[in-house]
Amino acid sequence: MDINASVALVTGANRGLGKAFAQHLVERGARKVYATSRRPELVDLPGVEVVALDITDADQVKEVTELAADVTLVVNNAGTNTWQDLVTGDLDVIRAELETHLFGTLNVTRAFAPVLAANGGGAFVNVLSAMSWFAHPGADAYHVAKAAEWALTNSVRLELAARGTQVTGVHLGLADTDMSAAIPGDRSDPADVARLTFDGVEAGAWEVLIDDWSRHIKASLAGDPQPFYDQLLAG
Ligand SMILES: NC(=O)c1ccc[n+]([C@@H]2O[C@H](COP(=O)([O-])OP(=O)(O)OC[C@H]3O[C@@H](n4cnc5c(N)ncnc54)[C@H](OP(=O)(O)O)[C@@H]3O)[C@@H](O)[C@H]2O)c1
Repeated sequence: MDINASVALVTGANRGLGKAFAQHLVERGARKVYATSRRPELVDLPGVEVVALDITDADQVKEVTELAADVTLVVNNAGTNTWQDLVTGDLDVIRAELETHLFGTLNVTRAFAPVLAANGGGAFVNVLSAMSWFAHPGADAYHVAKAAEWALTNSVRLELAARGTQVTGVHLGLADTDMSAAIPGDRSDPADVARLTFDGVEAGAWEVLIDDWSRHIKASLAGDPQPFYDQLLAG
């Protein structure tokens, strides 16, 4: 995937990582960047085409495929963390979290898969998380939603391989955005996340692990979960 030759579309591009992805794509020389947002009036990036898009609205997603029929690279970035536990949290909010990460990403994937295929194959980049791989009380709805989005990523990669469409999953711990503002700990600069992500996309990577935390969490999956969670919850 050559970013220079790409026509990219980024979801949730008005702030946070989505804004950094769109800005990096412009700076890296993408031919065109559609910066989409459910609040397009908040997109303040030079050099992008601003498009209204709520990924949970399947009809609107379909409309966007018509005005952005030249897209070759889709960055499924839009996301939310509602801080709900599963047992005691608000079930409607838990469902809304899955509506965003799982069904919203699936809406975009189903609508744009034929567009990418028509434009030579292209790539999806799905912004996942180290939390695809571990539970944490206080953010378990997010964990379930990210785990589901990870499974979606693995599944559509296989389903779309015959069309020549690359699917890259990106996992990270904390990045310096609104979503993680209340969480203590080291965090990545969104500009670095964007650079590492598109380096991986250009290299054809199936998965990009941005930081040591993601690498540690992924490696820990091979072991017994009890000592892992004892250590995690202790400190
Ligand atoms: N920050 C981290 O530490 C971290 C770590 C791992 C993974 N991630 C993932 O990185 C991605 C971006 O997160 P972020 O940190 O940039 O979060 P953020 O600062 O909270 O920004 C989230 C973005 O997603 C948009 N969004 C939410 N629901 C949407 C919908 N239904 N349709 C369209 N846009 C929607 C938001 O739009 P509004 O402004 O309208 O709300 C906003 O632009 C997410 O998928 C998140 O799970 C973040």
